[in-house]
Amino acid sequence: MVSKKGEALLPKVNARTGRTRLIAANWKMNLNHLEAIQVVQKLHFKLRASDYEYCEISIHPPFVDLRSLQLLIDSDRMNFSLGAQNCYFEAKGAFTGEVSAQMLAKLGVRNVIVGHSERRSIFKEDDELIAKKVKAVFDSQMIPILCVGETADERGNGQSAEVLSRQVSAAIRSVSPDVLGNLVVAYEPVWAIGSGTPASVQDASEGGDIIRGVIESIKSKEVSQAVRILYGGSVTSANSREFLESSSLDGLLVGGASLDPDDFAALIEA
Ligand code: PGA
Repeated sequence: MVSKKGEALLPKVNARTGRTRLIAANWKMNLNHLEAIQVVQKLHFKLRASDYEYCEISIHPPFVDLRSLQLLIDSDRMNFSLGAQNCYFEAKGAFTGEVSAQMLAKLGVRNVIVGHSERRSIFKEDDELIAKKVKAVFDSQMIPILCVGETADERGNGQSAEVLSRQVSAAIRSVSPDVLGNLVVAYEPVWAIGSGTPASVQDASEGGDIIRGVIESIKSKEVSQAVRILYGGSVTSANSREFLESSSLDGLLVGGASLDPDDFAALIEA
């Protein structure tokens, strides 16, 4: 990220937690490259300099939009991080339809969403594959945003903590403690995604605490305190502030409400 004069402009660390907040826009399979340019230009126009001061804003468009947004963000010196929604763990080869972490890094991508519940359920990604992707993203000097969360049934059966623990431990086991502190984990209860019914702030914070506890038990307290934990699932401008006020959470992963620049700017400003 750079200022208008070209110097690095990093968001301030949250004094309560020692971590920098992150708001990530997961566009899913929406907005072609022309629409993407318009949305990002409008968002940039709407936000004030102070909106970037307290959190990193990361935009995760479809792959085909990345090059256009990279050029736009660089040429207009916008303060957005470029993000991706997925990648493959192999560097190159006969993997028709896939995009490697290294290719994303070359495009200036900083944050890569890994293991979103839609990837897990629709594309049958399992914990083992997700662990390989997390490692590949770190190996390419980018930051994985690992998504975890229980389904409505698992929640009903009282298995939420068990599911979070399984998903987090599988994904981080083979990651070196030297880089693991840079990890971002998004707690996204599957039942809250796209449903219009977010988790309560208390439930989201409890989920965040469980995740941090799992990281501490597998690695160390120091690493667990460095990891940023986001909440995702039906976040809007009407509820974003409450989640950001929880000291268990370091930001948000936003789907639907990130597609409209007016809505998303209001959510960030809130
Ligand atoms: P939503 O999606 O904000 O539309 O609920 C969040 C996500 O899937 O990351």
